[in-house]
Amino acid sequence: MKRTRVVHALHAESPLDHILIKGWVRTRRDAKGFSFIEVNDGSCLKNIQVIVDESVPAFSSLADVNTGAAVAVDGALVASPGKGQKWEVHATELTLLGTADANTYPLQKKRHSDEFLRTIAHLRPRTNKYGALYRIRSESAFAVHRFFRDRGFHYVHTPIITGSDCEGAGELFRVTTLPTDTSGSAVPETDFFGKAAGLTVSGQLEAELAACALGDVYTFGPTFRAENSNTPRHAAEFWMIEPEMAFADLEDDMDLAEALVKNVTADVMATCHEDIDLFARFVDKALMKTLDAIVNQPYARVPYTEAIDILTRSGKNFEFPVKYGMDLQTEHERYLCEKKLKKPVIVFDYPKEIKPFYMRVNDDDRTVAAMDLLVPRIGELIGGSQREERYGVLKSRMLDSDMNTDDYWWYMDIRRFGTVPHAGFGLGFERFLMMITGITNIRDVIPFPRTPKHLEF
Ligand code: 4AD
Ligand code: MG
Repeated sequence: MKRTRVVHALHAESPLDHILIKGWVRTRRDAKGFSFIEVNDGSCLKNIQVIVDESVPAFSSLADVNTGAAVAVDGALVASPGKGQKWEVHATELTLLGTADANTYPLQKKRHSDEFLRTIAHLRPRTNKYGALYRIRSESAFAVHRFFRDRGFHYVHTPIITGSDCEGAGELFRVTTLPTDTSGSAVPETDFFGKAAGLTVSGQLEAELAACALGDVYTFGPTFRAENSNTPRHAAEFWMIEPEMAFADLEDDMDLAEALVKNVTADVMATCHEDIDLFARFVDKALMKTLDAIVNQPYARVPYTEAIDILTRSGKNFEFPVKYGMDLQTEHERYLCEKKLKKPVIVFDYPKEIKPFYMRVNDDDRTVAAMDLLVPRIGELIGGSQREERYGVLKSRMLDSDMNTDDYWWYMDIRRFGTVPHAGFGLGFERFLMMITGITNIRDVIPFPRTPKHLEF
């Protein structure tokens, strides 16, 4: 007989004479002549209650059926007289599939700190909170794909091993097959690729090539940055969603960014309402209010110069003093959307000196057509721009940034053959998950986080 997932059992239309449930024991409570066992199989937040009485052969060995053990339960699905559940299972047979030692199983029936749970990342999805998070992460990814597919975007796979540094920030992890002691600054001919190779920081450059053939595309994949910033918002390995549109300008880019965030948030709130509700009750009491503002209001759009004005006039004592030409820090970004405008904010037209070579230079020659979408609690969720489509301007920007233009001949070629205005952005998937769950540390929204000095699991 095929097992029934707990989520389906809990939503059954009518009683069932025969059902097979498989999962892990959350708790066991013994009474005289019978025991209650709560079983969870990861299909939903709720457990199913199983009643085992003396007629079940395994009854005499229930002492081994501890929290954490894996079990298979044959029985009948019947209406539950108890409060809090519609159905329960009356077992006819119980098989202990895998034991869990009661003294050493790390997940006891109490609330564990996030810090502790990070040290047992192999078991944390068995808690309510992290089980919910895994499900939300999965549904969010599908919601992203649905969003783009509904709008005719094509999904492209861009390389993970690359020879180019898209953001020009020198945060590439090196990829080599040579023993570490021979890897000096120059890459020997004998290395696998015969040239410097790294893990991608962004799929944008290749996504631009695809957009200039297929029109509207997006990537959704892992990206890697060796930035040594031990913050709650940065991971060395994270997932990015990068749409790229041909025949599009900065305004189209902002419109798409706003639509994506609204749409995917609303979608996940609907598909995962039970799991989101757990975060609203136990993690962030203001979550629903924040999400409501994200889904239901038009976002503010503020030029960088005006943002600097607002921050200067705020009278706030920021850790990083505000002045024109600086990159906005998280404290500034959060002030803008949490205190000043009380909703998501798109800041655009940044000074060209603080932005990468590929962003389109505006007519004022001082700013570029860049935009960052900032959300409450997180700060920067999205970074994007209209791209420099003019060959000559691009080349001089690359030279200004000390780039070797020979390495990027293919990127520049797109500006020689049928160049068109185009634009795109990158949305950090983990930051989105922090936003939608209220979780404040990026290490808790990715199953196995990679951060400086942490490479366990
Ligand atoms: O602003 P970023 O650096 O933009 C790019 O990489 C562009 N090439 C994207 C594009 O236009 N196609 O990164 C985009 C987003 C940020 O807004 C942030 O949400 C996330 O990626 N991000 C990180 N998330 C987690 N850990 C890190 N270390 C991150 N760095 C960036
Ligand atoms: Mg950015």
